[in-house]
Amino acid sequence: MPPSKEDFRRTMGYFATGVTVVTTAHNATVRGMTANSVASVSLDPLSVLVCVNREAITHRILSAGGVFCVNILSDKLEALARACARPDSPEAELTGVPFHPGESGAPVLDDALAYIDCRVGKTAEFGTHTVFFGEAVDVGTREGLPLFFYRGQYGKPGDGLEE
Ligand SMILES: Cc1cc2nc3c(=O)[nH]c(=O)nc-3n(C[C@H](O)[C@H](O)[C@H](O)COP(=O)(O)O)c2cc1C
Repeated sequence: MPPSKEDFRRTMGYFATGVTVVTTAHNATVRGMTANSVASVSLDPLSVLVCVNREAITHRILSAGGVFCVNILSDKLEALARACARPDSPEAELTGVPFHPGESGAPVLDDALAYIDCRVGKTAEFGTHTVFFGEAVDVGTREGLPLFFYRGQYGKPGDGLEE
């Protein structure tokens, strides 16, 4: 028997990740979505990918705008991660979230620990999601510590992990 969705989700939860807010812009609309399906792809071209549910509001804006920025969150930004995982939050529209337009035109969050600003180079449809491959046009880092996500919970460096 194939695994159930619950088993699959629970198992993938053992893959500890960082947490990002993927931001995008089209015309005057900006948006940010919490995402951990981010990976680096290649150095030639410099590229990353993110998988976005086709039902996400972010999907519509990203598809239209063709730009996105992967903002890697610091341990100070757990509240932002939680807010940008809710479609109805003001933060998902970047209200009250300090940002500036990046090289691509996508919003770069001023408080991000690091960012990769991208233009979409290619997309691939699979299941409920679109994989957006982005070519990096700018990157940046700042001092700080990362936010983690593991087995459905946020964590910070120094937190004890429960077995
Ligand atoms: C830690 C975490 C990681 C997530 N990663 C993704 C992801 O990689 N892709 C995705 O489509 N949704 C992901 N989600 C769910 C979206 O953040 C959430 O459904 C969001 O509200 C969708 O964007 P929208 O508000 O633009 O519709 C994640 C949620 C959490 C809490």
